[in-house]
Amino acid sequence: ELTGHEHYMRKEMLEQPDSAEAVIRGRLDERFGTARLDGLNLAPRELRGFRRVKILGCGSAYYVGQLGAQLLEELARVPADAEAASEFRYRNPVIEPDTLYVVVSQSGETADTAFAVQEVKRKGGQVVALVNVVGSTIAREVDGGIYLHAGPEIAVASTKALTNMAMAFAMLALLIGRVHDLSVADGKRIIDGLKAIPAQIREILGQEGEIAELAREIAGSQSAFYIGRVRGFPVAREGAQKLKEVSYIHAEAYQTSELKHAPLALIDESMPTVAIIPDDDLTDRNVAAAEQVLARKGPLVAITHPGVDLSHLGIRSIVVPRSEPELDPILLTIPTQLIAYHAALALGHDIDKPRNLAKSVTVE
Ligand code: BG6
Repeated sequence: ELTGHEHYMRKEMLEQPDSAEAVIRGRLDERFGTARLDGLNLAPRELRGFRRVKILGCGSAYYVGQLGAQLLEELARVPADAEAASEFRYRNPVIEPDTLYVVVSQSGETADTAFAVQEVKRKGGQVVALVNVVGSTIAREVDGGIYLHAGPEIAVASTKALTNMAMAFAMLALLIGRVHDLSVADGKRIIDGLKAIPAQIREILGQEGEIAELAREIAGSQSAFYIGRVRGFPVAREGAQKLKEVSYIHAEAYQTSELKHAPLALIDESMPTVAIIPDDDLTDRNVAAAEQVLARKGPLVAITHPGVDLSHLGIRSIVVPRSEPELDPILLTIPTQLIAYHAALALGHDIDKPRNLAKSVTVE
């Protein structure tokens, strides 16, 4: 039920401090610096035997899968990649016995993702799922999984379920990392990071007023760029997706490093760019790219960290608290949800039910 919130999307964004708490509850093992994910039904020896992880999902779930792949490579040093489930099922994929297949779906009913599960199973692959809806089709068909515990999500544009998907990937990466070479100390570092996230999300949500102002400026445009690199790139992709979904403004995500290889030609006063600029070893390069956008008179909004000095750029930025570097994308994504919501609100759209879209696409 909507109680005082104007839209489900806003209600669900504001629920994130609580829902993010729910996904980690009882699953963090502080003593051994690992995660307890019994629902996976995978013993340590089996987990250790996978040489690769393939992540499959559609739409935003696919983008969060890219983030998941990065977390798995960083924390577990296991090669991982994400692919759109909608393509995977049509391309006669090679299914390898030593690959762990991970499907991601809020609803657990997305037809393309469910078919991908069947394709993996038909060829003898092992598949687990990150799913929100308990007892859904996908949840019933897989060999095991992690329930997201985000609570019911009504708005078509996913917010709290996505955050929990990212949290669940971090726990999966932690668990697989700890059966490989991730140290107890590093495991504990990630646990502390995860525990801090709910309160940090609350802090970001507290900036809604300022973010809404920036969003209203973007709402006046036909098109926008979202740029980020490495950990920031899945954030940019998801940010662009959300803006398209609810505000109908064309948005494209680019790796910041690719800007000079074509998109720079499109930058002018009418093309705003949202730049993900975390405090990491690429900050200087990201700032240099921001300067290039500004030199071409492109309006710029940065989503950044407290330690990053952008004062010389004369722009307004959204500053989010730092997490552990591997977990930073979870927090950097939150402002992009608010930007999309407030742009759509300014344009008077039906935010919870965007035209032509369904919450879960159960047809081919
Ligand atoms: C799309 C929705 O069709 O399905 C997206 O519009 C969503 O918002 C995607 O991310 C995947 O849905 P699910 O339920 O499989 O996560």
